[in-house]
Amino acid sequence: MKYKLNNIQIYIESNYEKMSKQAAYLLASQIRLNSQSVLGLATGGTPVGMYKELVRMHKEEGLDFSQVSSFNLDEYCPISRDNPQSYYYYMMDNLFKHINIDTDRINIPNGNVENIEEECKNYENKIIKAGGIDFQVLGIGNNGHIGFNEPDDKFEAFTHLVYLDEGTIEANSRFFDSIDEVPKKAISMGIKTIMLAKKIMLLANGKNKAAIIKKTIFGEITPKVPASILQVHPDVTFVVDEEAASEIIPLLK
Ligand code: F6R
Repeated sequence: MKYKLNNIQIYIESNYEKMSKQAAYLLASQIRLNSQSVLGLATGGTPVGMYKELVRMHKEEGLDFSQVSSFNLDEYCPISRDNPQSYYYYMMDNLFKHINIDTDRINIPNGNVENIEEECKNYENKIIKAGGIDFQVLGIGNNGHIGFNEPDDKFEAFTHLVYLDEGTIEANSRFFDSIDEVPKKAISMGIKTIMLAKKIMLLANGKNKAAIIKKTIFGEITPKVPASILQVHPDVTFVVDEEAASEIIPLLK
């Protein structure tokens, strides 16, 4: 089912697999329209199915990533790239090593540098040099974070060092052996970095995302719910499953 609320498009799919396929289709359409697209990519549990479908499209339908550039939203800090919990490792494992992207065009913040401030500045400059992001993929935290922009009193504009919220550390501990192993910091694109993307696609699945999806689309625009800023983006698409949409469905009818 597809809905349109001014600048916001919402696809509600019956389950995770259909959500993943719809998201992959929209991202693949972007690449087919512009083979040199600059993509902004997310990690976490939500987009795994979308990446799986993109790999299938590459292998079976010849979806060509050879001219595509990519910038990931975030990376833990400190973490080494060969750590299986790093977002670098995740991206290689779930997508990059299975497709024909040019490794020189892959950009992921390095969470293992001494000078974090310089790393953030360089990352932001690389995005500008690439011409900005054409298509940004986002997940969403239960607290409304996008990238690792946690709820705050103000929106942080550009790529920066973040101290992760307790709730985020707890939510992400499912990927680690114990909660103590979850890094307490991360490097994340800022809200302005994200909002400057020409198109944005946010994915969410599962009942535990239902309340935050409602607040994001229908609530007050506030840095306390970072994703709520998407209400003012000119071209944003939500691709959600029925569980994540359960609190917005009554408002769309
Ligand atoms: C990941 C990211 C985060 C996640 C969010 C949801 O790169 O930027 O904002 O998208 O924490 O994570 P999952 O998908 O694991 O629920």
